[in-house]
Amino acid sequence: MAISNDIGIDLGTTKVMIYKQDEGIVLNEPSVVAYDVNTGAPFAFGQEAFMMVGKTHKGIAAEYPLNDGVISNYTLTKEMIKYFINKAYNSKVIKPKVCICVPSAVTGIEENAVVDAAVSSGARQVFLIEEPIAAALGAGIDILKANGNIIVDIGGGTTDIAVISMGGIVCSRSIKVAGNTFDKEITKMLKNKYSFSAGPRAVQQLKHEIADCLADRREAVPYKVKGINLAKGLPGILELTSKDLSEVVNPIISEILNAVKRVLEVTPPELSGDIYENGVMLTGAGAKIKNLDKYLSENLNIKVQLAQEPEKCVAIGTGLSFALEGKLESGFRDVTPGFDK
Ligand SMILES: Nc1ncnc2c1ncn2[C@@H]1O[C@H](COP(=O)(O)OP(=O)(O)OP(=O)(O)O)[C@@H](O)[C@H]1O
Ligand SMILES: [Mg+2]
Repeated sequence: MAISNDIGIDLGTTKVMIYKQDEGIVLNEPSVVAYDVNTGAPFAFGQEAFMMVGKTHKGIAAEYPLNDGVISNYTLTKEMIKYFINKAYNSKVIKPKVCICVPSAVTGIEENAVVDAAVSSGARQVFLIEEPIAAALGAGIDILKANGNIIVDIGGGTTDIAVISMGGIVCSRSIKVAGNTFDKEITKMLKNKYSFSAGPRAVQQLKHEIADCLADRREAVPYKVKGINLAKGLPGILELTSKDLSEVVNPIISEILNAVKRVLEVTPPELSGDIYENGVMLTGAGAKIKNLDKYLSENLNIKVQLAQEPEKCVAIGTGLSFALEGKLESGFRDVTPGFDK
């Protein structure tokens, strides 16, 4: 079998993953860039830049150039893509085909910036794939069959829900409520209710450790978060439990549940029948919040399955999509500059 040098890229709001057909995931780093505030010049990307988040002085900034599922800084996004492609793919001889999954809310102009970055990093052909299609492929669903499946991908910036059948999206919805929404709301609650300020990485860790969709019915799990006691203006530690987070977690998971219901409501009956059999597939790292599968299953009255390694599904799907070139009805496009669409 010929060795493929094609690469798939999950360009996520919070992380970037690159998948090579013969090697699997070869890069997995936060979508963060550190740059000089005065010149705008980037000097660190990914994990190295992530370690600087919340710790920079005035002269430098470390930020996510994709925010809430859109590209908030073109230049940094382009530089970041180039850096990651060059890190993952170093052959000067053979130019790769590149398939990129961009957040669902990006505009045409933003897409062009992403395509430019891939071409200037040496891509000979560039494809864009929609997140639910990539997620379904990566979760092992046979999306070409005349069989309805519903996929719910919860990322950092967006939750993308789609019913897929015969290689195309039948109905879908994307909401800007996802993993990072928990972080924003937890940060607000700490400030307003406990006069406590915690950094973005500490808040994320707190969420990963104890946020639980069924906390109200479970034993409270304690956790200590480090930050600033705002009343005293001094460094401090705040002890919280999983139950304390419920007032933040419950409204967010309820919004996600409602968005899934909206999609199910407009799903054609034959496909609804398939979905009743197949259940819901959850992907995206945001879906790893504790007991989300049980919460959704109880409220939708259907089976809900968290994919194996949900955080990797989209990246794996981008890599697998090359094999389906010409067979996918929607959600996969050749965007190589000069390609006649
Ligand atoms: N164990 C966990 N429990 C809860 N949330 C988690 C866990 N692990 C990661 N997350 C959250 O998942 C989110 C990132 O998900 P993912 O990596 O799928 O996003 P992305 O693909 O970069 O974003 P998007 O698809 O919106 O562009 C973050 O908010 C992160 O805090
Ligand atoms: Mg994603």
